[in-house]
Amino acid sequence: MSIPAQQKALVLEAKFGKFAVQTTDVPRPGPGDLLVKIEATALNPADWKIQTYGALINAYPAVLGTDGSGIVIAVGEKVSSEAFAVGDRVTFQGDIDMEKQTMRGTYAQYLTLPHEFVAKFPDNLSFDEAATVSSGVATAALPLYNHVEGADSVKLFPPWKEGGRGKYAGKSFLVVGGATSMGQFAIQFARLSGFSPIVATASVHHSAFLKTLGATQVVDRKLAAGELQAEFAKIASGPFDVVYDAVSVADTLHLSLAATAPGGHLVVVLSPAETAEEARKQGKNVHFAQGLFMQPINREVSGPLLSSLPKLLETGDIKPNRVEVLSGGLNGVVGGLERLKANQVSGVKLVVHPQETA
Ligand SMILES: NC(=O)c1ccc[n+]([C@@H]2O[C@H](COP(=O)([O-])OP(=O)(O)OC[C@H]3O[C@@H](n4cnc5c(N)ncnc54)[C@H](OP(=O)(O)O)[C@@H]3O)[C@@H](O)[C@H]2O)c1
Repeated sequence: MSIPAQQKALVLEAKFGKFAVQTTDVPRPGPGDLLVKIEATALNPADWKIQTYGALINAYPAVLGTDGSGIVIAVGEKVSSEAFAVGDRVTFQGDIDMEKQTMRGTYAQYLTLPHEFVAKFPDNLSFDEAATVSSGVATAALPLYNHVEGADSVKLFPPWKEGGRGKYAGKSFLVVGGATSMGQFAIQFARLSGFSPIVATASVHHSAFLKTLGATQVVDRKLAAGELQAEFAKIASGPFDVVYDAVSVADTLHLSLAATAPGGHLVVVLSPAETAEEARKQGKNVHFAQGLFMQPINREVSGPLLSSLPKLLETGDIKPNRVEVLSGGLNGVVGGLERLKANQVSGVKLVVHPQETA
């Protein structure tokens, strides 16, 4: 496959700056890298937060984008031919270095990535669907199953290891924000681990869909906090063993902490400082999801998880998010991020096709 010299990329020009589609050089893979032609990239709230709050990175200009799928078009000389070959269909996260605060993201037509953090995906998924998978799997699974010393995790035994399926039968699980992209993956991992009941809060029109993923009951997220707790009490015999708050704003954190059993575990997706202190007083454990396969603390678990992912996707044990494809290639990203920021996206992942960028 020929490698072009230049590409289109959506560049965030400066901290708090503007996005602009620019022509940039196509990177060349290092010895352990893959060069991927990106066919689909999914939008994440992180991208508008980086632009609006100056969060996570400090080196500009930067290409954002934390989820993509595409085709391997070149393989570094140190990557074994058994691991990857030109033509493989792959799913991956953008490359964020939290220590250096740099980012090489997926809002581009081509990207090089260390092969260890890339997964092949099976034929039953489209590129659009595959682009929705990586960050959701990482953000759901790593804070639940990362057993490494020092990892902020519930440290459950993972369902992708022998003996892991159904291991937590009889333990209860609550997902606050079940229709979020992250919440959909949390429900699915809870199902694989055997939790029961698995209760999700969501807009009621998502109930049937969330039950296909593994939720045993769906409670209307628009009920008042007291009504939500009353509904939980009707379903579960007491507070939940594990709660995954996929929204993690003030209201949901309050709800989630109250719904966590003493000695139980609450996973949050946004910074937990105040909640963590309150939880300590109540004898509950709070874990901040660190949803990047590449983060050093995650690497030991990311490897086996990414190796298991093609099979989990092929069997339908893990299903991708439903997608809405935006037109205009990378030019569609800015409008999509505005919709995410305005809470105008419900139960789907927004996706663009970088190769269609004019
Ligand atoms: N820590 C990490 O590593 C990490 C990684 C990825 C994402 N995140 C963060 O995780 C959060 C979720 O990201 P995402 O991509 O999954 O979001 P998303 O899919 O864009 O979220 C949209 C969904 O939010 C739901 N929602 C909004 N307010 C809610 C509430 N009060 N209760 C229940 N559901 C509510 C809506 O549900 P309905 O449709 O049911 O109305 C909607 O479907 C974001 O804040 C993101 O920045 C963190």
